[in-house]
Amino acid sequence: MASSTMALVILSLLVVFLGSSSAQLSTSYYSKTCPNVFSAVKSTVQSAISNERRMGASLLRLHFHDCFVNGCDGSILLDDTSSFTGEKTAVPNNRSARGFEVVDNIKSAVEKVCPGVVSCADILAIAARDSVVTLGGPTWNVKLGRRDARTASRSAANNNIPPPTSNLNRLISSFSSKGLSVKDMVALSGSHTIGQARCTSFRARIYNEANIDSSFARTRQSNCPRTNGSGDNNLAPLDLQTPTAFNNDYYQNLINRRGLLHSDQQLFNGGSTDSQVRAYYNNPSSFNADFAAAMIKMGDVSPLTGSRGEVRKNCRRVN
Ligand code: HEM
Ligand SMILES: *[C@@H]1O[C@H](CO)[C@@H](O)[C@H](O)[C@H]1NC(C)=O
Ligand SMILES: *[C@@H]1O[C@H](CO)[C@@H](O)[C@H](O)[C@H]1NC(C)=O
Repeated sequence: MASSTMALVILSLLVVFLGSSSAQLSTSYYSKTCPNVFSAVKSTVQSAISNERRMGASLLRLHFHDCFVNGCDGSILLDDTSSFTGEKTAVPNNRSARGFEVVDNIKSAVEKVCPGVVSCADILAIAARDSVVTLGGPTWNVKLGRRDARTASRSAANNNIPPPTSNLNRLISSFSSKGLSVKDMVALSGSHTIGQARCTSFRARIYNEANIDSSFARTRQSNCPRTNGSGDNNLAPLDLQTPTAFNNDYYQNLINRRGLLHSDQQLFNGGSTDSQVRAYYNNPSSFNADFAAAMIKMGDVSPLTGSRGEVRKNCRRVN
């Protein structure tokens, strides 16, 4: 009796231990199985960015759009087929998410050094970090061990990625539903120190809003016609100062009412997040530290671990 109780206790401890350890990402996940994963990803990211500086922004955004839709599981990378609808054509991604060819190149480089080991979801997490570092931003240790989804959801992409029309409350609740705090949300929004947006994402702001610097609005209007449908895909930099350098200019822009998106300017519009915007403008190192910490938290959103999901051979389709 005593020994069978003991065995039961040991067994349940084991189950709890294995259950929790398999749900944990770890920075050393590939240290035995693919020690060269970091150099393979980094060199491919660097060459993509030297071909086109904007690519760093596009890769960073892919990780965000992956993590906010059923967790960081590589779901955004799956191509639509006649029998499968993925996330690439969801409203926030269609004609907007980019960098998929670069992800393919990274995957090929990684498969060369250790075939069948590294997930596409982990590749997105490492590529996001390497992009930020290459463009002059902070570094952090990327936690790994995510596995790739066998499914994707266009409707979840439409519902979970916050649109640029969001007000502050909506931004806060969207991030909070992923376990991210208001502070994380303001820090992660500093990603808009790099990259570009389409006219359709900011037209209403530059023609209709009051909390915008008027000369900035005129400048943006010059390449974004007022009429819906005309010039929708014309691009403008999210940070008018240094669109390919990762720094804290984003917060200065907000203070000067030069946020490009409605959602950007919501972070500095007389509300609860104004003070944090000022703090990140005054103290770039606190922005860098909080950004890095928030990226790690975002990378922890509902990963598939253990035997769930799979390690895709080709990031565009399930095995
Ligand atoms: C706070 C809520 C957010 C909203 C409403 C938002 C919205 C947007 C929109 C509308 C665009 C332009 C898309 C287009 O017109 O094609 C954009 C671009 C971008 N976003 Fe966000 N975003 C948010 C948060 C984030 C976060 C958390 C990250 C990264 C961690 C991020 C990274 C980027 C980057 C880097 C770009 C430029 C991409 C490129 O040039 O290819 N955004 N975002
Ligand atoms: C996505 O964009 C393409 C043009 O690139 C368009 O033809 C298609 O209708 C869009 N798909 C959805 C679901 O909106
Ligand atoms: C233009 O598009 C915006 C956003 O999609 C919409 O809210 C607005 O009603 C449209 N305006 C006209 C005149 O169709």
